[in-house]
Amino acid sequence: MAGMLSPSVMCADLLNLQNEIEELDSLGVEFLHIDFMDNKFVPNITFDTNMVKSFKRPMKNIRRDIHLMAFEPQQFFDAMEISKGDMVSVHFEACEDVNSVLAEIRSRGASPCLAISPDTPVNVVKDFMSEVDAFLLMTVYPGFAGQPMAPGSMDRLAELRSIVDECGRDIKIEVDGHVSWDHCAEMRENGADIFVAGSSSVYGKQYPLDEAVKMFYRLVK
Ligand code: DX5
Ligand code: ZN
Repeated sequence: MAGMLSPSVMCADLLNLQNEIEELDSLGVEFLHIDFMDNKFVPNITFDTNMVKSFKRPMKNIRRDIHLMAFEPQQFFDAMEISKGDMVSVHFEACEDVNSVLAEIRSRGASPCLAISPDTPVNVVKDFMSEVDAFLLMTVYPGFAGQPMAPGSMDRLAELRSIVDECGRDIKIEVDGHVSWDHCAEMRENGADIFVAGSSSVYGKQYPLDEAVKMFYRLVK
């Protein structure tokens, strides 16, 4: 299966969002990566729940890939109208009861995804292999775009890939943070399936959006 793209909308032209979402949708991009930050789990704020809900309106085929960098993220699910077709990532480090949050996402018809930050040992995922459809490996410290890759990220990606391959379920691996033009092919080789493309690639402003998307797919096919 070819690599899938999830452009990080916090890096988009925020005054032109509807047009950019429609363009990504028409290009056949699989996901739109929506970073939600509570200013507690990470010292930053991006979109509020109403905005996260509104992203659905212009979408035809593209799916919301909602990354909640927030403590007890289930408190926001109603306001975001989490529903069938969404992929929802919650942080291992931010949930009192990870299993119940993942089950809550599943009960809404959405795809549960567990995110782990760079300082969290990869093998914590072993307790959640039957609860998720995907893992989100943070390759930067969560909270800000434009950061360098966290040390050891490629080895962590390879380790996560081998844990997933051993379990025999079709669990996708998403990478998020400094998924750059220089690193994305190597990330693919190390087992990434879904690529959060932000300021270090698709939204790096070097190329028009449609050209950047086509170039990215050629690198991760
Ligand atoms: C970081 C965010 C990422 C970020 C990716 O917390 O989750 O989605 O926007 O953008 P770059 O490519 O700049 O790291
Ligand atoms: Zn993210």
